[in-house]
Amino acid sequence: MPLSLSIRRADLHSLETPLLVLALGATPTVDASLAKLDKALSGALSRTIERRDFRGGKDETLHLGGIAKGPGRILLVGIGSPTDRNGALKRAASIAARNAHKMGVGALAFHSAYDDAAAVEYVAIGLNAGAWEYTDLKSAVPVEERRAPLTEATILADDQKGAKAGLAAGEAIAAGQSLARTLAMMPGNLCTPDFLESTGRDIAKRHKLKITVLGRDGLEREKMGSFLSVAQGTPQDPKLVAIEYSRGKKGAKPIALVGKGLCFDSGGISIKPAQGMELMKFDMCGAAGVLGAIEAIARLDLQVNVIGLIGATTNMPSGDAMNPGDVVRSQAGKYIEIINTDAEGRLVLADLLSYVRRFDPAAVIDAATLTGAIVIALGHTATGVFGADEPLVQEVLAAQRRAGEPGWPLPIWDEYKELIKSDVADIKNSGGRAAGSISAAMFLKEFTESYPWVHLDIAGTAYSETDLVALPKGPTGVPVTTFVEFVRGRAR
Ligand code: BES
Ligand code: MN
Ligand code: ZN
Repeated sequence: MPLSLSIRRADLHSLETPLLVLALGATPTVDASLAKLDKALSGALSRTIERRDFRGGKDETLHLGGIAKGPGRILLVGIGSPTDRNGALKRAASIAARNAHKMGVGALAFHSAYDDAAAVEYVAIGLNAGAWEYTDLKSAVPVEERRAPLTEATILADDQKGAKAGLAAGEAIAAGQSLARTLAMMPGNLCTPDFLESTGRDIAKRHKLKITVLGRDGLEREKMGSFLSVAQGTPQDPKLVAIEYSRGKKGAKPIALVGKGLCFDSGGISIKPAQGMELMKFDMCGAAGVLGAIEAIARLDLQVNVIGLIGATTNMPSGDAMNPGDVVRSQAGKYIEIINTDAEGRLVLADLLSYVRRFDPAAVIDAATLTGAIVIALGHTATGVFGADEPLVQEVLAAQRRAGEPGWPLPIWDEYKELIKSDVADIKNSGGRAAGSISAAMFLKEFTESYPWVHLDIAGTAYSETDLVALPKGPTGVPVTTFVEFVRGRAR
């Protein structure tokens, strides 16, 4: 159920809410904003702080009993001493919403020391992120065991005007993020290339955007031999979906967001081990991120031109599938030797990165769950960032910091091109184990000569195999906010 958010100015001690959340910094004090509440609690808040039961550390939580004619329960959430205040508020809000959800209180009110637009925006994103869940495929639990999902949240703010603007922006981004997470969480038999296409059409229709869709025939007409080689093993129709968001100046070059949309990646003939293969339904998180970003950008009504481009298919073994040793011709005319059919994402992206040239983009950013090697390099903390255009790389890194979705750069020097030299064709699709994420990026680079480009390897950050403090296991929403912050940065 979607979370309904509102803004209110209220006295904490008399606010009738089942759960009052107080987001507090390190070694908190009972200041003027908390004094009346503390008094109504007969000093329980100040005693808790004095006893150091609650120290306001990052991710720390403590429950306190409520007040008969006021908040029913109180939850303290620590934000520590953050360098990134907005990120810390988002995280605290997400933790609060998750707790509320588990408790089954149905509604909460969120208080922090900040009520400017940016703070409220990130609190709204966090509350939504913490309350999000995918329950479509679970049968309803018996009534007696049911807990109320969190459906209502109030962000407490004195500065109503700033807060309202922040709330609207936060809800726009949250909507994009929830969409991306739902698409990612949906199993491969439901979230098919057709389904991604219909999701794209729905976004385009609601926001009056131009959309172009190519199926197998269209890809053949476009001579996209690289993309088609991946789709060769599946009976499902592959889909290239291009959405044009044109609320910027007429004729201004667009920003292109490109996403890998492998609705399932079995590895193909170079089949993956069975253990954990189910996670490869998440191999469309790049495409989900692009669709989510377009949804958010349209809701934000940003005055820019943006292209959202995704390539959707599945990578399957079959008698028709591509084989190791095969050579295919990409749209750009480069011949590619297929060494490993499991290095399929770069084959799809190669043709998307050629296709995107027709939009004459000012910048192209692609996002892809491209390599397992990026998890070895950066773990699940940072997205891998690759690009030869240094100012653009810095611009993307800054957007990632603002988004609370950190990235870290890796080199794509010419020396690495050695890794993808082929004996029989222009390049090969796998460079082996050494520098696996870099050789994948080097492969993509071959198709990006005519525009500034950055590649994001989100294989470690787009979903989590374990429960995190602020989010349950599953899709994280990366890279939706990165895309939105980048586009926003250019819209200003
Ligand atoms: N989708 C995978 C990458 C991946 C692995 C994403 C683990 C998330 C978690 C990609 O298509 C792939 O299989 N890459 C291969 C490349 C190799 C064959 C050169 C890999 O990473 O092993
Ligand atoms: Mn693969
Ligand atoms: Zn893949």
